[in-house]
Amino acid sequence: MTQREIGTLYIYETPADVAKSLADLIVDHGSSAIDGRGRFVIALAGGTTPKATYTLLAKPPYATALDWSAVEIFFGDERCVPPDHEQSNYKMAFDAFIKPLNIPEAHVHRMHGEDDPARAAFDYRAVLAEVLGETPAFDLVMLGMGPDGHTASLFPGEDPLTDDEERVRAVYSISQSQWRITLTPSVLNNAEAVAFAVVGKDKAATLAAVRQDPYDPTKYPAEIIAPPDGSLIWLADKAAAGE
Ligand code: 6PG
Repeated sequence: MTQREIGTLYIYETPADVAKSLADLIVDHGSSAIDGRGRFVIALAGGTTPKATYTLLAKPPYATALDWSAVEIFFGDERCVPPDHEQSNYKMAFDAFIKPLNIPEAHVHRMHGEDDPARAAFDYRAVLAEVLGETPAFDLVMLGMGPDGHTASLFPGEDPLTDDEERVRAVYSISQSQWRITLTPSVLNNAEAVAFAVVGKDKAATLAAVRQDPYDPTKYPAEIIAPPDGSLIWLADKAAAGE
């Protein structure tokens, strides 16, 4: 079996160090994309881990380190809740940096969690095509990983490539008792760089298994993430890295 791509793991002392490193990575990739192509296309991760990074982005030096008006913001996944709901990934990012940095609304492409899930997925497919063309490609995809090995809203127990050609799927998460909208692996992997941020002892066993155990993406959907034409970066604190 060919050696599967597991990317490069960077280990930091604390979650705050991970957050800073992720903010640095966003600015580095953003500056390069804007210099090279005039815009920076990013897919944001949801959950709680990225909040510290997003909060840093709204402050110096990050607030002035990037032409934020040239950033196109997408989401890797969304909970099927209204945009002002406390569980909304959009709300978390909006409050932390999108609003503080006055990023133009026309450049912020949220998944409509308030709509019927199938409708929201259908509509987001159209947004991806309208803004990114028929083969959506990201400069940077941010992801997290749950203790169960899920990423975005690709959850264990189902082949993560189910309906992959749909690019955007509505999925009911039994573990989360919640409908979700998620980008599918082919879209998440069509990126110049994919960066996971994983912190906390509760993820150590899963992170080790994802990086060392035999490939089993139905068990650990995070394993499906391997950008064929991009870099795969894992940022973890010592607790999650098992050190
Ligand atoms: C979500 C995320 C999800 C998240 C992981 C890790 O909508 O919840 O997209 O995939 O990245 O569950 O979440 P934490 O960062 O909260 O541990």
